[in-house]
Amino acid sequence: MTTNDLLAVDCRGLTHRYGQFTAVEEVSLQVRQGETLGLLGPNGAGKTTVVRVLTTLTPVQHGEVRIFGLDTRHHTMDIRHNIGYVPQQLSIEPALTGRQNVELFARLYDVPRVELRERVTLALEGMHLLDVADEPAGTYSGGMVRRLELAQALVNRPLLLILDEPTVGLDPIARDSVWEQVQRMQAEFGMTVLLTTHYMAEADALCDRVALMHHGRLQAVDTPAALKESVSGHGDGATLEDVFRHYAGSELGEDTRRSGIREVRSSRRTARRVS
Ligand SMILES: Nc1ncnc2c1ncn2[C@@H]1O[C@H](COP(=O)(O)OP(=O)(O)OP(=O)(O)O)[C@@H](O)[C@H]1O
Ligand SMILES: [Mg+2]
Repeated sequence: MTTNDLLAVDCRGLTHRYGQFTAVEEVSLQVRQGETLGLLGPNGAGKTTVVRVLTTLTPVQHGEVRIFGLDTRHHTMDIRHNIGYVPQQLSIEPALTGRQNVELFARLYDVPRVELRERVTLALEGMHLLDVADEPAGTYSGGMVRRLELAQALVNRPLLLILDEPTVGLDPIARDSVWEQVQRMQAEFGMTVLLTTHYMAEADALCDRVALMHHGRLQAVDTPAALKESVSGHGDGATLEDVFRHYAGSELGEDTRRSGIREVRSSRRTARRVS
């Protein structure tokens, strides 16, 4: 489905509204094949909304989104077959075992029958879940559930892996093993990765480029090094956290908490208006 000159993600002029509230405004973002791009921004910036549109789960309202050259409006199923997605909200089926949860995804994604058992085992092994594979997922810890979701997202060997805060709640060892596994698959077949995270060190270490979002708009897209350089008014050795603070304005620390409350209030108002 891909040729090398195609962009993995080509998103142009994406605007998304919930009722009267504009959550995403005129976002244009390109991700090259094999690249790891981090989408960063404060709570409520619009990251999950963008991510859901890219996965085709949320239809495009305004703008155009192409995944490997295919328009999300017309090629939904083709695109889904080539995407692995770990949503921000936990999504496993607690009554099924870990193995059954991954098998379910393997079948949904049409993993060939002859390969299915081995692929499921490999995905579970990669996330260090083989020992507990035959226990109900409802008995897993939060971090184990997250790793199970990654196993599900990777079982079809996706060309594009979309991860919405994949490492929240994972211990440092589990976090490292997640990224090892992801990088192994990138090296193996050039998988493209788009991730959101609030761990700046993680974004700095893993991402080829970082896109900073605030109030629904893209504020900057560049390599971590160039972004750090661009805010060097902070003096030498600016960190990605300095970059984040720079583009998120004053709404950090105490202010972020207040804005978080405003955000919840405004989305509740929006929800009331919508219903
Ligand atoms: N279904 C919805 N209905 C109404 N408003 C929504 C809905 N989903 C999100 N929003 C609002 O849209 C804005 C962007 O939300 P989104 O979840 O995309 O942000 P985010 O960047 O992923 O935040 P976080 O870092 O907290 O995950 C927020 O103000 C949120 O309240
Ligand atoms: Mg989110």
